Amino acid sequence: MRFIDVLVGAAAFSGALASPTKTRKRADAFQFVGVSESGAEFGNTALPGQLGKDYTWPDHNAISTLIQKGFNTFRIPIMMERFIPKTLTGTVNETYAVGLDDIVTYITGQGAYAVIDPHNFGRYYNNIITDVSGFGAWWTVVAKRYATNEKVIFDTNNEFHDEDNALVGQLNQAAIDAIRGAGATSQYIFVEGNSWTGAWHWTSSGTAEAMGKLTDPSDKIVYEMHQYLDTDGSGTSPNCVSATIGAERLADATAWLKANGKKGLIGETAGGANAQCIQAVQGLLKHMQDNSDVWTGWLWWGAGPWWGDYMYGIEPPSGTAYTGVLPSLADYI
Ligand SMILES: *[C@@H]1O[C@H](CO)[C@@H](O)[C@H](O)[C@H]1NC(C)=O
Repeated sequence: MRFIDVLVGAAAFSGALASPTKTRKRADAFQFVGVSESGAEFGNTALPGQLGKDYTWPDHNAISTLIQKGFNTFRIPIMMERFIPKTLTGTVNETYAVGLDDIVTYITGQGAYAVIDPHNFGRYYNNIITDVSGFGAWWTVVAKRYATNEKVIFDTNNEFHDEDNALVGQLNQAAIDAIRGAGATSQYIFVEGNSWTGAWHWTSSGTAEAMGKLTDPSDKIVYEMHQYLDTDGSGTSPNCVSATIGAERLADATAWLKANGKKGLIGETAGGANAQCIQAVQGLLKHMQDNSDVWTGWLWWGAGPWWGDYMYGIEPPSGTAYTGVLPSLADYI
C-alpha cells in the first residue's frame, strides 16, 4: 500500500493555487501516477532552437495543481541535441541544462518524481543512433548531473522505432551501465523498446527478446511501454476502438511481464474526452490495478503550457483532458 507524500509546503511555492492543499490517498496499486510535461522537446526541427520561441519549460503552478490532484510523477521530454549539441560525446549546453535543473529541482522539491526523457526516438540529428558507447557517454554526463537526487528517474529514450531490435537492447544496456557507472545507483531507470515501445506489439515486434535480457546491478529498471487506444495505436485520434480496447491491448504485455518477472509502466496513454474513450482508459487502468504485481503505474500524455486545445491536453485549468477526462479517473490516482 502506498500513499502520496504529504504535500508539505506546497502552498509556499505559489500564491495562486486553485484549491487548498490537501493530502490524498494514492491508489493502492500504483507507485507512479503522472503525466508527461511537454515543452522542452517542442520545435524539434529547430536545433538548438530558442527558448520562448521554439521551446519552453513546464509550468510550476500547473505541476503544483496536478500534485494536488494526486499525481506524483512528471516526465520531462527534452532534446538530446539541445543538452549536448555537438556530438554524443560532447559537452553540455549550460543554457539549456539549467532549464532542466530548475524544473527537476521544483518537481523533486515537492516530493514527486522527475523523469528525464530524451525524446529522440533513438535518433540524434535524425540519424539512428548506432554509436552505442557514444550513447553511453551522453548518459554518463546527464546521470552525473543528477546522481545525488533520489527522486530523479532516467528514461533511456522515447520510442525507438524502425531499427534493429538487438541495437535497441544494446543502447538500453549502455544507458543502464552509464547511469550506474556515473554513481546514480539508487534511482529508477525506465527502459523503452523498439516499435514505439508499444505494449500491444511488445512480444510480436520482437523487441521483448533483447529487452528481456537487460541487466541492472541495482535491480531498479522498469519497462516503460506506451499504449494509445485509437485504431492504429498512434495516439492521433480522439476516438477509441471500443470501450474494452485498453485492457485488451495490455494483455499480452502483462503476460510477458509476469512470465519474465519484470516490472512495467505505461509511460504514455491517452484517449479523447468522450464516453467510449473514458471507458477504454478506465479499463486499461483497471487492468493494471488488477495486475499491480507487475504494473507500477501510468503516465498520461500530456501536459505542458503550449498544448492549447490539443485533444489529449491535461494542462490545468482548461486542457481538454483536464476538464473532460481527469474527473473520471479518480479511482486510479
Ligand atoms: C545553447 O542553448 C541556447 C538555448 O537553447 C541556444 O540559444 C544556444 O544556441 C545553444 N548553443 C549551442 C552551441 O547549441
